[in-house]
Amino acid sequence: MDELVVRHAGVEDRGRITELLLRSWGSTIVVAHGVRYDAADLPALLAERANRVAGLLTYASGVDGLEVVTLDAVERNAGVGTALLDAAAQVASGKGMGRVWLITTNDNVDALRFYQRRGMRIVGIEPGAVDESRRLKPSIPVVGHYGIEIHDEIILERRLPPG
Ligand SMILES: CC(C)(COP(=O)(O)OP(=O)(O)OC[C@H]1O[C@@H](n2cnc3c(N)ncnc32)[C@H](O)[C@@H]1OP(=O)(O)O)[C@@H](O)C(=O)NCCC(=O)NCCS
Repeated sequence: MDELVVRHAGVEDRGRITELLLRSWGSTIVVAHGVRYDAADLPALLAERANRVAGLLTYASGVDGLEVVTLDAVERNAGVGTALLDAAAQVASGKGMGRVWLITTNDNVDALRFYQRRGMRIVGIEPGAVDESRRLKPSIPVVGHYGIEIHDEIILERRLPPG
């Protein structure tokens, strides 16, 4: 199998990024914890294999660390998600940040498994937060993975060693 390469996306990648976000999430707009992002405008890490997009992570930097806003593996179960998450942790460490964090939703039990297997800890649960986000973005589905109703945000973090 060709080598997986993770790199920072440039302006020339914006078209491919928008396409992937639309395919995965139906929109480039992400609403989480009361904040609205256009993920297509965020800094992004692209995973590529043989010059084809294998995965995408978009993030936002803040005083509370690096927030992973979206994470998608086009190729599943081949190490893409892990490589992107590790690359995000490296970016955060390089910026002197103490943690990587993200939000997932109560229905996304596969992602919860994935993140916890990658050393992330659950540090908060916001009951009803997705119901609030749905007011800002009515296209957020009511029913998610495994037919589970989507209502709550789950906050996970990976603490990073001091650089
Ligand atoms: C969650 C998600 C990002 C995980 O990405 P992924 O690339 O499939 O994850 P990885 O391949 O790194 O790891 C998944 C499993 O594949 C296995 N794996 C990794 N590399 C492998 C390889 N080369 N060969 C075989 N298996 C491999 C891992 O062991 C891992 O299993 P484990 O958790 O039991 O250790 C992906 O499923 C996804 O895009 N989901 C939809 C979008 C989503 O929900 N995103 C999260 C929103 S919060």
